[in-house]
Amino acid sequence: MSADYEVSFFLNALGYTGSEAVHSSFDDFRVQKLSPEVGRLFGALNDLVLIASVNCDGIWIPISLLYIPKYEAKTIGVTSLVHPEHRLRTWLELTVPKFFNRDLLKAVNLQEWMGLEILGVFPCPVFWEERPLGLEYENFFSKHFEKMPKLPVFPTVYPYNNPYAQKTFVHCMKVGKPDDKILVMGCGASIEAAALALQFEMEIHATDINPLAIANTKLIADYCGVGDWVKAWVSDGYAEIQSKYDLIILNAPLVSEEDRPEDPNRFDVGGKFLKTVLQGLPNHLQTSGRLILMSRADLSPYIPPQLLSHSLELFNIGTEVGIHELSVVG
Ligand SMILES: C[S@@+](CC[C@H](N)C(=O)[O-])C[C@H]1O[C@@H](n2cnc3c(N)ncnc32)[C@H](O)[C@@H]1O
Repeated sequence: MSADYEVSFFLNALGYTGSEAVHSSFDDFRVQKLSPEVGRLFGALNDLVLIASVNCDGIWIPISLLYIPKYEAKTIGVTSLVHPEHRLRTWLELTVPKFFNRDLLKAVNLQEWMGLEILGVFPCPVFWEERPLGLEYENFFSKHFEKMPKLPVFPTVYPYNNPYAQKTFVHCMKVGKPDDKILVMGCGASIEAAALALQFEMEIHATDINPLAIANTKLIADYCGVGDWVKAWVSDGYAEIQSKYDLIILNAPLVSEEDRPEDPNRFDVGGKFLKTVLQGLPNHLQTSGRLILMSRADLSPYIPPQLLSHSLELFNIGTEVGIHELSVVG
């Protein structure tokens, strides 16, 4: 895959076409506003994300996304759009810093950002070179490729290099069978959907509430050569899911009873998502189907009477969690 393809895939996922109205233009730089939906995804103040481009021999090259995070309105978040392998990287690295000084805010002249005291900048990168935690994924992918491919993680998407994803992967590989109809729910970047498609050589479904997670899942499936097998779409819980499955996999955000910042990757405030998933499960599992669920260790307060549950593994990573297997009472 070329670096240009990867960056343009990410920009397409943001709905950016290049032809958006220019908000500010000075010297060889220009700034455009992205849609408010992108702003909401990034948790940006006033739903506002800007895309800055630089003119290189008459071609506008997008270089950065800029936004003020709602919860940290004294900083400016910057997502570099320059892929590490981009042939223009050195030139851009020399040119672009001129642009990123305090004058940027004045030059952009945005009402929405006026009066803010910006004290710093924090990177919100695309992780182009992410690596999964542990050897399980590495060993699996090494059977299919010469070495573990670099599988990127887009901003706002849950990075897959974590012990929850690692353990969920181990169990779903043990439980999954050829010909199972499989759904990865809350798929994130979903290296698990790509791995399952490679393993079983068949269609795998993947859903998430975050559109960037869906774009990320499609890119990773393409990288792994299973783009035709991984079907991914946006769905809040079961809202856009019609089928019944033999196997559903969910590495869920953790239930939190406290009032937490909005973060569907990590927190499920009041267990709303978990309750929806478990209560709706009988409508989406085949009679002999199973849900492999990474969640809190004690699921008992959440299990409706028509479900059976047993723990496959309990572990503690700062908090007690578990991988559970659930099925519908016969
Ligand atoms: C802990 S992450 C797991 C991501 C990925 N499966 C992994 O293991 O790396 C939880 C995922 O659930 C998704 N999610 C949260 N609430 C959701 C909802 N109501 N419907 C669908 N997906 C949701 C988040 O966007 C996030 O991608």
